[in-house]
Formats: sequence, structure tokens, C-alpha cells
Amino acid sequence: MTNTFLSRLDWRFATKKFDATKKLTSEQLNEIIRAVRFAPTSFGVQPFHVVVVTDPALRKELRAISYDQSQVTDASHLLVFCARTDLAARVDGYVEEMTGGNVEAKASTKSYADMMHGALDSRTEEVAFAWASKQTYIAFGFGLAAAAELGIDACPMEGFDTVAVDKVLGLPAHIRSIAYVAVGMRAVEPTYPKFRFSEDDLFEYR
Ligand SMILES: Cc1cc2nc3c(=O)[nH]c(=O)nc-3n(C[C@H](O)[C@H](O)[C@H](O)COP(=O)(O)O)c2cc1C
Repeated sequence: MTNTFLSRLDWRFATKKFDATKKLTSEQLNEIIRAVRFAPTSFGVQPFHVVVVTDPALRKELRAISYDQSQVTDASHLLVFCARTDLAARVDGYVEEMTGGNVEAKASTKSYADMMHGALDSRTEEVAFAWASKQTYIAFGFGLAAAAELGIDACPMEGFDTVAVDKVLGLPAHIRSIAYVAVGMRAVEPTYPKFRFSEDDLFEYR
């Protein structure tokens, strides 16, 4: 069980203070990105986008609209998870990329594509956003789990002004920020005990 995700459940915590001098290697970052990329999503259309921010000036600007939380500037990398609402285009992109544009392969996926379009295209912007956000959080969770397994500290964060962040990052209207994962190395050990509701509270067996 050494260094597995399960063995690190207690080790990991939402890191408040990062050591700003310690950086992830590109291999470590790529492992986290790979886990995010391979997360499952409904229909497999991956309606999310992640902005990986290292630029110190940009991080300072983001911190000012993130309740001045130090993780935003002091973590090694700041991953800004965004939900996409361009679902019809996403389905088309999915078919195009999966088939490599091959006409016959595209024809054979037509009924699946039509089914996806039927389910997704008529959604209002807000319904699409709520659905895409759920898919995005699955990828977000995979990123957190991968970091834990690698012994990399992380802080999941929703404490920021999403509208202001979208503006600072210059995101198009169909890509909206929902949460950060700050990754790096802890500067101090957690100062409070981990709290979880009991299994009896959270689960029931039938
Ligand atoms: C979606 C989400 C948003 C969160 N937002 C913040 C945040 O903005 N700032 C922060 O310090 N912690 C944030 N947290 C961390 C939680 O407070 C923390 O995960 C929870 O208290 C459990 O503690 P643990 O992760 O240390 O085990 C967030 C966690 C999640 C999952």
C-alpha cells in the first residue's frame, strides 16, 4: 500500500500554506494532467478546459480576486478548472477527433452522435453549465487523487470570484471557471485534525 492513493487518504489535506520555493517537476505536472485527461465524463465529451497558471504577475492578479488566499501565488502551479457550455460543438469535435475526420468512420458513429446531439443541444446555457460543471468536478477529483498518490500537496478551491477570474484570464463566453486546484509542496503540516462525518452518517446498507 505504500504511496498509493488509499494509503495517502490521511496524509493529504487541503494545503493552506505552500512552500513557494518548491516546484513540481514537469513529469509530476504531466502525471496530474494525464489523470485529469483520463477522467470519465458523461458521453465522453469532456466539457472542460484547464488553464495551468505559473506566471507570477497573473497569479498575483488572481489572488486579489480569490479572497487573498496565499495558495494562489505560493503553490507551484495553479490549475483553473473551467466548464464548457458549447456542447453541440463539443459533440462535433468529439466525432471529428475520434474518427480522424474519416468519412466512413464518421458515418458509423452517426447514430451515437445524433443521440448525443439530441440529449445535449437543446439545453439552455445555465443547464449546460450545471451539467458541464459536474463533469468538470470528476476531472478535478482525479487531479486531486493523482496529486495525493504522487505525494504532491494540493488545495481544492472554490473561494474566488469566478466572473472576475474569467475576465482576467480572457476566457471566451462558453468557457467559465469553476474551481482551482493549487499544487505544490506544503510549507507546514496541517494545524487541525481531519474531520469527517461517520460512516453511519454517510452510508446506509439495504
Ligand atoms: C470544491 C472545494 C472547494 C474548496 N474551496 C476552498 C478554498 O477556497 N480555500 C481553502 O482553503 N480550502 C478550500 N477547500 C478545502 C476544504 O475546506 C477541505 O477539503 C475540507 O475542509 C476537508 O479537509 P481536507 O481536504 O484537509 O481533508 C475546498 C474544497 C473543495 C472540495
